[in-house]
Amino acid sequence: MTKQETYQTLLLQIEALVAGETDMIANMANVAAVLHETFGFWWTGFYRAEGQQLVLGPFQGPIACTRIPFGRGVCGTAWQRTETVIVPNVHEFAGHIACSSASNSEIVVPILHDGIVVAVLDIDSTDFNTFDAIDQHYLEQIAGML
Ligand code: SME
Repeated sequence: MTKQETYQTLLLQIEALVAGETDMIANMANVAAVLHETFGFWWTGFYRAEGQQLVLGPFQGPIACTRIPFGRGVCGTAWQRTETVIVPNVHEFAGHIACSSASNSEIVVPILHDGIVVAVLDIDSTDFNTFDAIDQHYLEQIAGML
């Protein structure tokens, strides 16, 4: 299966998963699980916007930092810019927050409600250059379901 085909199958699965549940944290938990299991990422999870910080939400993978200030790291940058940030090599991203030294590339996708960032989806890979426009396209669709 190509990456597109995998994502298309996932989209249907996630649509069905979230359709019957209004609790966002429950939905984030299942979305983190299904993405993590399907692609075998290093870390897959969510941070929720609380005041001026992002606070760790449901995730799969090793323990992570619990709070990230607005504008800091890849997550805080995606929040500030209100747009997806793809980092092919985290070691070259100024201000990257290394929760794990095993992470080499990363994508962060904001989740918007009425144009406001309420959370971000953060995915880390141990490979370099893991994420591209295909991941962005589908992960933004998934973010739109939450
Ligand atoms: N690397 C992120 C921090 C979160 S961990 O990757 C789970 C960042 O720079 O914002």
